[in-house]
Amino acid sequence: MARLVGLAAAVLLLLHLASADDSLLGRKGRIAIDEPAEENAASGSSAGRYAVIFDAGSTGSRVHVFKFDKKMDLVEIGDDIEFFAKVKPGLSSFAGRPQEAADSILPLLEKAKDIVPLRLQKTTPLKLGLTTVPGLSKLQATAGLRLIGDEKAEQILEAVRDLVHTKSKFQYNPKWITVLEGSQEGSYLWVALNYLVGKLGGDYSKTIGVADMGGGSVQMAYAISANAAANAPAVPDGKDPYITKEYLRGRDYNLYVHSYLLYGALAARAEILKAKNGPFSYCMLRGFTGNYSYNGEEYDATATPEGAVYDKCREEIIRALNLNAPCETKNCSFNGVWNGGGGAGQDDLYLASFFYDKAAQFGFIDSEAPSAKSTPAAYKAAADKVCSLSAQEAKAAYPNVLDEPYICMDLLYQYTLLVDGFGLEPTKEVTLVTRVKYGEYYIEAAWPLGTAIEAVAPKKMHQGA
Ligand SMILES: *[C@@H]1O[C@H](CO)[C@@H](O)[C@H](O)[C@H]1NC(C)=O
Ligand SMILES: *[C@@H]1O[C@H](CO)[C@@H](O)[C@H](O)[C@H]1NC(C)=O
Repeated sequence: MARLVGLAAAVLLLLHLASADDSLLGRKGRIAIDEPAEENAASGSSAGRYAVIFDAGSTGSRVHVFKFDKKMDLVEIGDDIEFFAKVKPGLSSFAGRPQEAADSILPLLEKAKDIVPLRLQKTTPLKLGLTTVPGLSKLQATAGLRLIGDEKAEQILEAVRDLVHTKSKFQYNPKWITVLEGSQEGSYLWVALNYLVGKLGGDYSKTIGVADMGGGSVQMAYAISANAAANAPAVPDGKDPYITKEYLRGRDYNLYVHSYLLYGALAARAEILKAKNGPFSYCMLRGFTGNYSYNGEEYDATATPEGAVYDKCREEIIRALNLNAPCETKNCSFNGVWNGGGGAGQDDLYLASFFYDKAAQFGFIDSEAPSAKSTPAAYKAAADKVCSLSAQEAKAAYPNVLDEPYICMDLLYQYTLLVDGFGLEPTKEVTLVTRVKYGEYYIEAAWPLGTAIEAVAPKKMHQGA
């Protein structure tokens, strides 16, 4: 356990290498920002604006403070392009103790108050999203608040709302302190990435699409034409709609977003193991016996005597994806889900989180690179290399990979998901991304920035200051 926590810390550090200080008392934490008062400050429309975004993940809570100028460009806070701080453990470890949960983020709230000038706090939106943290959940498969139950999560949220409301002057809206659904995570990441690569404000056909693989779910988000959006199929009651409308940098966008629950990197292993025929999995490396444990359940993950077999593993994955599910919407990806119809907004596709991590781990992209071009076929090529190994050989060959018995399954799953699930050509060029260069900084490809942009972007019906 101690080792796990240590590893989690190391990953956190890596995730934020470019932008973050690992300690609450770090150098950026002490910086006090002093600015002359500006006429229009209260309206927030011309003085530049701050946004305070809490990312409440399974292993820790983080706060990001972003500052935008009036052109909506990010500007420095102290000596970095954002302010960042975090605390451990995550809110989910306080199930049933809502007050302690809320108190755990008080130090972060205090930091944010030090950063945002007092007179601007009233017009600085504060948002908090409870979520599992994709890059970390592989280390702590017992995920975050999505899994501790709605009631306990709601108690914690109430306590946090109360804390924010009574202990700060930030712009407060109870609806801004909430569980973040997978589809919201997908659309905010779309906003963040398109912003960072300079595509927001342009025609939808020039924007980039984003596929983001977390531990529990995988998200697809891309812009489609207004016409296609108008003809989008209805979704069953209670499900998230396929289309989200965004007004950003003076443009309307119709975003197709879908979050496939149970198809994230860790959850999918369970689905694949459930889909096997007979007692053994053809996706597991030779010599492995044991269970896969996910979300409180155990799945028998024992390998066949011959070990992983490419074609048979593919069949198990294809069954898990439920590719033959009835499709009521003409064009389905898998499991009966509308694929959005494709189009120009998906042509330039960025793959994030576990898609990036696997590629970096298996060396088909440079693990130091913030982003790199690759293809779905590269996942298959990597699988071809590892599927014939025994579990022991894999351990020796990939000492830094935590779950080596699953490497064949994982790589083949990502390949199959991209090609058979999302319908990409194996040779299609995609961009694997973890950070994006912005001026002289690298910014993490993650949802908080997208949330901040949406929170401070001028609204369409805004009457002006
Ligand atoms: C695997 O899980 C089963 C229950 O599904 C349990 O009976 C068995 O003891 C577990 N094996 C190991 C090695 O944990
Ligand atoms: C289905 O796909 C075809 C070809 O890509 C496209 O022309 C059509 O508009 C799509 N229909 C829907 C409902 O997505």
